[in-house]
Amino acid sequence: MELIQPVAWSADECGVRILDQRQLPGREVYRDLRTVDDVCDAIRTLAVRGAPAIGIAGAMGLTLAANYDQGDHDRLLSAAERIRATRPTAANLAWALERMLAVATASDGRSLRAVLRHEATRILNEDRDMCRSIGEHGAALIPDGARVLTHCNAGALATGGMGTALAAIYVAVEQGKRVEVFVDETRPLLQGSRLTAWELTRAGIPATVLVDSAAATLMREQKIDLCIVGADRIAANGDVANKIGTYALAIVARHHGVPLYVAAPTSTFDATTATGAEIVIEQRSADEVRCGFGVLTAPADARVFNPAFDVTPADLIAAIVSDRAVYRAPFDFSDSR
Ligand code: MRU
Repeated sequence: MELIQPVAWSADECGVRILDQRQLPGREVYRDLRTVDDVCDAIRTLAVRGAPAIGIAGAMGLTLAANYDQGDHDRLLSAAERIRATRPTAANLAWALERMLAVATASDGRSLRAVLRHEATRILNEDRDMCRSIGEHGAALIPDGARVLTHCNAGALATGGMGTALAAIYVAVEQGKRVEVFVDETRPLLQGSRLTAWELTRAGIPATVLVDSAAATLMREQKIDLCIVGADRIAANGDVANKIGTYALAIVARHHGVPLYVAAPTSTFDATTATGAEIVIEQRSADEVRCGFGVLTAPADARVFNPAFDVTPADLIAAIVSDRAVYRAPFDFSDSR
């Protein structure tokens, strides 16, 4: 299967090329981002999204902080700050920018642009490799004939490789297992139905889309064997921030005795955040709920609660799959960064 590339260097190497995910599944449109503002806008509006992919886009985007030179470190810092502020919850974005700033500081005399380009390419390539390793660890949790439920999009569209949660499914299928996937549509912006169902269909994997609130019924009818989702930030105690609705899914899964697995690369683990209570949750605009796709679905002046993510407590998670290992409670990630 041809790998989807949500983020890459542009053909002329002067920009960042993204697959505009706002237009999927209807249209497959690639755009070249030329400035840091373009990159911030693409991340903020979810043209590029998913924790690892925004880390990669942020790193590549920092190389576009135009006209900088060795003496213009402040310009780079302020560009990094602008990019970092676009989406606060995903650990990968701040992590990637820290890496970029660290190599910039250590670049002593070499071309800053070349050093930054090299590091951003490493971040992309490492993510691709981590996805593969997550897939191999995660596939071991998926039995032949499994009916798997996933939430949001934690696939190739969200990463530099084959995904995180979906990587486990892709590798299981590569291994010859039969897997059927149930895809939460994922309110309000439908990353499940627009993106995950598109990806799985493209890969020839059977996928059924459901409204998020139908997951409980499927589980009560014993039609789901396991759930697997991605993560935006994993606290030191194993609490996981992921797309809004993951927490509700985890409660429902626990109630029905269905294991819920989380898959994420080491760049999503945040050892400096002790528990999920410390994770900053991005709040998004009211209009995403009132008229997300241009159709009024609530009174135009309705008050709205629209957090992009929620926190699933560690005790509702059966295992966390990283590129290094499969962790089970009590979670100890001391080898993870
Ligand atoms: O708002 P999004 O679409 O960026 O949210 C994405 C998710 O919540 C994913 O599950 C998470 O980033 C992991 S992607 C491998």
